Amino acid sequence: MVLIRVPKPWQSSAQPMTSEAAYRQRPRSRRRFLKQLGGAAMGAAAVSILGCDRTSAADPAHATATLDPELLLSLDQPRLDFASATEFADAGRPVTGRAIAGQYNNYYEFGSGKSIWQAAQALPTDPWRLEVTGLVKNPQVYDLDDLTQRFPLEERVYRLRCVEAWSMVMPWVGFPMAALLAAVEPRPAAKFASFTTYYDEAIRLGPERFANGDLVPWPYTEGLRVDEMANELAFFAVGIYGRTLPKQFGAPIRAVVPWKYGFKGAKSIVKIEFLAEQPATFWNTLTPEEYGFVENVNPNLPHPRWSQATEKFIYGQTEFEWEERPTLPYNGYGEYVAALYE
Ligand code: MTE
Repeated sequence: MVLIRVPKPWQSSAQPMTSEAAYRQRPRSRRRFLKQLGGAAMGAAAVSILGCDRTSAADPAHATATLDPELLLSLDQPRLDFASATEFADAGRPVTGRAIAGQYNNYYEFGSGKSIWQAAQALPTDPWRLEVTGLVKNPQVYDLDDLTQRFPLEERVYRLRCVEAWSMVMPWVGFPMAALLAAVEPRPAAKFASFTTYYDEAIRLGPERFANGDLVPWPYTEGLRVDEMANELAFFAVGIYGRTLPKQFGAPIRAVVPWKYGFKGAKSIVKIEFLAEQPATFWNTLTPEEYGFVENVNPNLPHPRWSQATEKFIYGQTEFEWEERPTLPYNGYGEYVAALYE
């Protein structure tokens, strides 16, 4: 395998670092959690995970990525048959290269850095069971074939804006969440859906406990309002770049909600439960004052620790090329979703 060391987009920028002193001054509720790192790349036996945190990308330990151009080949997942949704065929920006998107991921079950793609190959996806349950008329259990064959697939090129202030454009293949709603028929009392993702203690590389001993709220969970799921933009992806999802992207099925910060896009979903009340979610449980439930992209609402006014748009094909762009309200999808929040 040929490995090339390339600078991360953040390397040349003047990102504020999160110093240990600054961390200690924060209220206890903004807690960090410790993780024993097996990876030699990190060097230290334990580091603080900064969570969904812009500054984590500027940490010296993360400052360079090991980029594998052969990942272009190893992403050779089975091809999918799908229609191109012409309305979403063009995100108004170049599509980020798959070698870049596939090696710069957030998937905390497999580690706190961005270079988790190799670790994520431990995720067992076959067989898969996705249970749809709760306040629905037709509860369902879908297997792997159901996920690619049960619903007509289409391709949607969406902008993804991470709460950490980086962004990409990715061509997802999947089906609208509205198609799932039509299949399972939520009852009138169902106002929310909770997405539970795959969790196996035996393969988890993320931390089990906070430094203070509290348990980390695994599994990773997220949620949406049912009216948000019914919006035409809300999407379940089973593929990307024309093929089934590689594991680091959240195989075999993940949520894509392009007007919200990326952490709302739960990866590797095993259960969708329809509920009358708003469910607890991973980040909201972890740091409620930093990560809310709705979390629409909003340049005018800073994260408590950084501005959201601009973003680093990563557009490189085989190298981390990026440019600073103004962040758009609802990530530029206001015409589709603003009415949901009036
Ligand atoms: N889903 C799970 N199960 N675990 C995670 O750590 N990270 C979230 C989201 N879904 C995450 C997850 C965050 S913070 C982001 S920004 C996106 O996945 C990243 O998706 P990508 O790696 O495909 O760009």
